[in-house]
Amino acid sequence: MFNIIFIGAPGVGKGTQSAFIEKDYSIAHIATGDMLRKNIEDGTNLGKTAKSYMDKGELVPDSLVIDMLNERIQKDDCKNGFMLDGFPRTMEQAKELDKILAKLNRKIDAVIDIYASDEIIIKRLLNRGRADDNEETIKNRIKVFESQSKPVLDFYKDKVKIIKIESVGTPEEVYAKIKKELDIIKNNGL
Ligand code: AP5
Repeated sequence: MFNIIFIGAPGVGKGTQSAFIEKDYSIAHIATGDMLRKNIEDGTNLGKTAKSYMDKGELVPDSLVIDMLNERIQKDDCKNGFMLDGFPRTMEQAKELDKILAKLNRKIDAVIDIYASDEIIIKRLLNRGRADDNEETIKNRIKVFESQSKPVLDFYKDKVKIIKIESVGTPEEVYAKIKKELDIIKNNGL
């Protein structure tokens, strides 16, 4: 069992790095942004509500995302562990996650604090061009990250090992730094 959380600004590489980790450590990659986009695509009520927030770069209300995560984390593919990409994003989500994990008798093994300059992030996202990758929305997403999501790192500071990684260089170079740290934690924890 290996449970990891990624905390980082939009475009910093959470999704890219999660894909490497999912493969190497055989754990489920849970990306709340992807789940919400799937709901939008499927035209669900959750998707309809979420879209109005996501288009502006605002966070979807806690209660909706927490319920979605609670259901997802109990699926069979999480038995070996999970990698949370985009959750928790508020203090409320972090506190609720603690309660959910306590009920399941699980704990977080590591938090990856991944960062890069705004310049790098904006360049990467404008290059990608997802629906919410226009300059105005990107700037708001960064602002929302700084004010609501970055403080979540403090919640974990004294409880969980935090790995700080600068996301510069190729995705493979960034991953090499992450893997080195994760292997230490995994081997010590076993
Ligand atoms: P979400 O989908 O989570 O988006 P995000 O946090 O803005 O992150 P991104 O997916 O844009 O970036 P990433 O860090 O994963 O980077 P990536 O690897 O893709 O959330 C979207 C919205 O959903 C939110 O704004 C909110 O409204 C809502 N939401 C989601 N979760 C929520 C929650 N818990 N609570 C409330 N609301 C929630 O890389 C980006 C690009 O850069 C790619 O093109 C990639 O190829 C490239 N790249 C990556 N690494 C490198 C590298 N090293 N060098 C060069 N290019 C790179």
